Amino acid sequence: MKFFLDTANIDEIKDAHSMGMVDGVTTNPSLIAREGREFEEVIKEICAIVDGPISAEVISTDTEGMLKEARHLAALHKNIVVKIPMTVDGIKATCQLTKEGIKTNVTLVFSPLQALMAAKAGATYVSPFLGRLDDLSQDGLQLIEQIVDMYANYAYETEIIVASVRNPLHVLESAMMGADIATIPYSVLAKFASHPLTDKGLKAFLDDWNKAQA
Ligand code: E4P
Repeated sequence: MKFFLDTANIDEIKDAHSMGMVDGVTTNPSLIAREGREFEEVIKEICAIVDGPISAEVISTDTEGMLKEARHLAALHKNIVVKIPMTVDGIKATCQLTKEGIKTNVTLVFSPLQALMAAKAGATYVSPFLGRLDDLSQDGLQLIEQIVDMYANYAYETEIIVASVRNPLHVLESAMMGADIATIPYSVLAKFASHPLTDKGLKAFLDDWNKAQA
């Protein structure tokens, strides 16, 4: 499974990258706004750190506006993937961008049929938002399973980015289902690495070692 980092924070990206855990990065307007920095400056800095797909989202809601922004963003760096919202206008833009060879990530996907439309439009990636469904007492993981099965049935090449990840189990379950990618907040990634028995075991090893030296 590929791990993307779901952040626009440069320190988080550098740290996770040094662990070899960042295959790509996803941003969104909220994540960029949180950094209080200029959008393109942040995107270019991320591209200089991570050699993998970097998602940058359009702000326009009409097809023409999305196309204009997408062409501009795609020209910034070869690794840019343009994030397009899952709307009728967004699907039209995705269809056109696919013809132009511009990579897209159809975002804000909450149903299997939205994911099917994104694949039919030729999206490079689709981002179902797992955690936000769970927040509404709907089964986010079931959505991931449906999309994995559906894409396999028809051999779509669109890759599934499990988004809105809230905890390590979201990643584990998605990996067991065969989702291509999880885009993970830094705080959740940090939880993967630690286990109390690892800490306890390491302390015991070092205590025993030090006693033997005394
Ligand atoms: C995906 O690309 C989004 O940036 C992200 O996963 C949204 O997650 P949230 O529901 O935690 O805002």
